Amino acid sequence: MKESAAKIRLMKAGDFDAVVGIDEKVLQTPRPEYYRVKFEKLFGTRDYLPVSLVAEEAGTVVGFVMGELYLGEYGIFQEEATLHTIGVDPAHQHRGIGKQLISEFVDHLRKVGVQKLNTLVDWNDSRLIRFFSANEFGPSKTINLERRL
Ligand SMILES: CC(C)(COP(=O)(O)OP(=O)(O)OC[C@H]1O[C@@H](n2cnc3c(N)ncnc32)[C@H](O)[C@@H]1OP(=O)(O)O)[C@@H](O)C(=O)NCCC(=O)NCCS
Repeated sequence: MKESAAKIRLMKAGDFDAVVGIDEKVLQTPRPEYYRVKFEKLFGTRDYLPVSLVAEEAGTVVGFVMGELYLGEYGIFQEEATLHTIGVDPAHQHRGIGKQLISEFVDHLRKVGVQKLNTLVDWNDSRLIRFFSANEFGPSKTINLERRL
């Protein structure tokens, strides 16, 4: 398949519809409320550095990655950041856009001193685990315990 010629840029508030649309295609269920909260946090407060990016091809948003870096007390960035969600339009997958998004996301965080990036993946989502593993993510040294009530 043709390699991507996507341009990566910072996400803007106006990307909301494109992001929700890609997420719906990927997950086959709409989550506008989830993204409304994320966008409010990203663009409505000064406590977080907007580290979210989109990939554009011919002026159309075809992928995105959203994360947050909490700006601690005295404006000092924390050493850990979180990647919340990533999505590439199914019609544009397998061309390296996901890799490009992660790579620019990591470069961006490295420049401000972040040393670790966390993300949560469903244990049963082997495709996504393989994608993250191919992009140098590994299992964390801590595990998340839960109890059903
Ligand atoms: C995971 C995801 C972001 C990957 O996006 P992508 O743009 O397809 O990613 P890449 O192209 O970088 O890599 C995907 C595969 O394409 C392959 N690839 C990359 N460039 C390629 C090219 N030019 N030609 C052929 N294959 C290529 C990669 O090797 C990789 O192969 P693998 O899956 O066998 O490991 C995308 O599949 C997605 O949106 N999935 C759903 C994510 C999700 O559930 N999000 C919600 C919770 S976070």
